[in-house]
Amino acid sequence: MGRVSGKVALITGGASGLGAEDARVLAREGASVVITDIQDDLGAQVAAKIPNCKYFSHDVRDERRWSEIVADTIKTFGRLDILVNNAGLVRFGTIEDLSYADYKLQVEVMLNGTFLGCKAAIPYMTKSGGGAIINMSSIGGIKGISSIPAYAGAKGGIIALTRSVAVHCQEKGYKIRVNAIAPGGIETPMTAQAVAQLGPDDVGLAQSRDHGMGKPEDVANLVLFLASEEGRFITGTTITIDNGETMK
Ligand SMILES: NC(=O)c1ccc[n+]([C@@H]2O[C@H](COP(=O)([O-])OP(=O)(O)OC[C@H]3O[C@@H](n4cnc5c(N)ncnc54)[C@H](O)[C@@H]3O)[C@@H](O)[C@H]2O)c1
Repeated sequence: MGRVSGKVALITGGASGLGAEDARVLAREGASVVITDIQDDLGAQVAAKIPNCKYFSHDVRDERRWSEIVADTIKTFGRLDILVNNAGLVRFGTIEDLSYADYKLQVEVMLNGTFLGCKAAIPYMTKSGGGAIINMSSIGGIKGISSIPAYAGAKGGIIALTRSVAVHCQEKGYKIRVNAIAPGGIETPMTAQAVAQLGPDDVGLAQSRDHGMGKPEDVANLVLFLASEEGRFITGTTITIDNGETMK
C-alpha cells in the first residue's frame, strides 16, 4: 500500500520542476494524478511517463476552465482528494523597475490562481468526504527580497489566503486540510532562469546558495506528507523548507 493509495491528486504547473516531481512522488505512492499547465507538449510528455497520470491544458487564471478541470478530473478518476496549487512564474525587478503589468501577471497566476483552485475544488472535496489542499508559497512570502516585490506579495498573500481558507473548512466541518509550503532555493528551471537573469552575485540568490540548493524531491516529500494521513493533524499552517534560510 502506498501512502496515498486510492487518492486522486490535481497538480497545477505540473509540466516542470516541483509540480512534475510532486506528480511522480504521489503516483509512486499510489495516487492517480492529473497535471495541468500551459506548456502543453512538455506536460503531455511528463504525464506519459507517470502511471495513472493525465495531462490537461489549463491556465490557472481562467475561472471557467477551473470548473472544467475539476469536473474532468472526477470524470477521469472518480474523485478529487488532493489539490496542489503549484503553478508559478517570476519576473524580476525592484519596486522602482518592475512594471505594473509584470506585478499583475505574478499576482494573477499565483495568488488569484490559488484562490480559484481552492474555490473550484472545495465543493467536490466536501462530496468525497474531505481532502488536502497544498498551496505553493515561497520564502519570498516570508522575508524581504528586493528583486521580487510582486512575487513576494503574491507568495505572502498565499500564506494569508491559506490560513483563512483552512479556518473556513474547519468551521464548516469539511475535513479539508489547507496548508502552504514555503521553499527556499530548489534546483528547477525557475531557479536556473533566476541565475541567468540576475547573475550569480545577486544578493537574494547568494543568500539561498549559502544555505545550499534543495532538490525537487525535498519539496515533493513534504507535499506527500501533507497530502497523506500522516499530515492529518496539520492545517492552516505554512511549512518552510529552506535549510534554515529564514530561521534568523
Ligand atoms: N524552485 C524554487 O526554488 C522555488 C522556491 C519557492 C517557491 N517556488 C514555487 O514553486 C512553484 C513551482 O516552481 P518551479 O521552481 O517548479 O518552476 P517551474 O518554472 O519549473 O514550474 C512552474 C510551472 O508553472 C507553469 N505555469 C506558469 N504560469 C502558468 C499559468 N498561468 N497557468 C498554469 N501553469 C502555469 C509553468 O509553465 C511551469 O511549468 C512555483 O509556484 C514557484 O513560485 C519555487
